[in-house]
Amino acid sequence: MARTALVTGGSRGIGAAISKALKAEGYNVAATYAGNNEAAAQFTEETGIKTYKWNVGDYEDSKAGIAKVEEELGPIDVVVANAGITRDAPFHKMTPEQWQQVIDTNLTGVFNTVHPVWPGMRERGFGRIIVISSINGQKGQFAQVNYAATKAGDLGIIKSLAQEGAAKGITANAVCPGYIATEMVMAVPEKVRESIIAQIPAGRLGEPEEIARCVAFLASDDAQFINGSTISANGAQFFV
Ligand code: CAA
Repeated sequence: MARTALVTGGSRGIGAAISKALKAEGYNVAATYAGNNEAAAQFTEETGIKTYKWNVGDYEDSKAGIAKVEEELGPIDVVVANAGITRDAPFHKMTPEQWQQVIDTNLTGVFNTVHPVWPGMRERGFGRIIVISSINGQKGQFAQVNYAATKAGDLGIIKSLAQEGAAKGITANAVCPGYIATEMVMAVPEKVRESIIAQIPAGRLGEPEEIARCVAFLASDDAQFINGSTISANGAQFFV
């Protein structure tokens, strides 16, 4: 029977590529989105992937949304916690609101997405948690104290979940994308983006599909013994 995968932030950018790759592998895919109804409807029309709207930063909203997905598609076997935002500012200009918004979505959002599905995975003896972290959680980034804190936090989450889930057939891993050609990176001022690309030995931004293929592998049965690991996909920009 086909497995069910939940991809948060799954209708745009890296998330959309992940949703499509998992669908191509035969999963029933549910993609969540936060705001843009029109874009989500278009994504569903183009891909046949169902979209669900909720705020990953809100626990009750996430719990209710996940219950609806499970009712419609079946128990969730694979969670890809991908939803994320940036609110970049040098630290001396960063507001408490910018800090909190990023923490709520990127970090608490992972808790809110994984916690409701965890008991079912434990009972069924199978699960895949894949968190989309970032190169900037590994190396830090000017103007991203908030974002880098959440992305480093993701690595603590998967290393802890891996130890709790291993005996129950659940793996928890992270993918750390480098700079990928998405709206998020295109929003960086052009001059800054050019200077970033100059720091990437591959000489280019990554493609969303290059991250999606890492996720599809981590979700597969072949990856059962890979647990608590991080796959970096950054064109040789940074090594841990
Ligand atoms: N390193 C060192 N100094 C830097 C710098 C850097 N990377 N970037 C900017 N600066 C300096 C500037 O030269 C400037 O210096 P001066 O004051 O001496 O001129 C100062 O810092 C910035 O001052 P501004 O008043 O211009 O800053 P601002 O308030 O307008 O903020 C910014 C601009 C938000 C920092 C903007 O430059 C920016 O967005 N930078 C990109 C940050 C970034 O890389 N974000 C990653 C987004 S993609 C992503 O997050 C996905 C992923 O996972 C990889």
